[in-house]
Amino acid sequence: MTSPVTLRRASLALLLPVLLQGCGTQAPRGDTDRKGQPMLAAAPLHVTASIKELMDSTIDPAADGLWDSVGTIVTTAGIDTHQPRTDEEWHAVRRHALTLIEAMNLVVMDGRHAAPRGTKAGLGELSPQQMDAKIAANRAEFNLFAQAVHDEGLKALAAIDRKDPEALSSIGSDLDERCEACHVTFWYPNSARPTA
Ligand code: HEC
Repeated sequence: MTSPVTLRRASLALLLPVLLQGCGTQAPRGDTDRKGQPMLAAAPLHVTASIKELMDSTIDPAADGLWDSVGTIVTTAGIDTHQPRTDEEWHAVRRHALTLIEAMNLVVMDGRHAAPRGTKAGLGELSPQQMDAKIAANRAEFNLFAQAVHDEGLKALAAIDRKDPEALSSIGSDLDERCEACHVTFWYPNSARPTA
């Protein structure tokens, strides 16, 4: 009788050539770009999360990390202004900025759906299919909204590297507007907006 271990080895041995063959299509093909530099085939990317899940797991917590890092709280004991002070505290905020910046590349990845199928659209919100269709029809605009958040993240990163809490604080409110710009266009275009 074959032990489970041997079985697993055997099936791996069978699988390996198949896997390697798959990789073969991704390997450099010796092509060169216009400047004569060798071109590497694009790395294989695997899309798992929807944009909604990326927002919840990565983007929103990173943005919160930036927003919460500086501020003023008025209490009965007086005014408490908080900001990163030690190198470790600045480093922690820097992680959030980098996460936000790089996560915007994930948001614009081809093949990523807006939300899991079956997600119920709230009042004024588009359904997952409607969001996908709207993004597909307005790809350039969608990418620009993501780019705007990316760029705001870069400004935050520069402020962090200068250890400038005032700049970080004002970037925070611009960042909020950039997030909303995409949401009102692609997520809840039909929601009632406060009239000025
Ligand atoms: C390029 C477009 C785009 C940008 C920029 C963007 N979002 Fe989103 N966001 C979406 C889409 C699409 C959804 C999915 C809508 C849904 O929940 O069905 C979403 C959903 C969300 C959700 C709801 C997640 C959930 O679990 O329901 C939060 C929170 C969120 N975004 C926060 C942010 C924050 C914070 C920023 C800015 C730092 C931001 N978003 C920038 C497109 C964007």
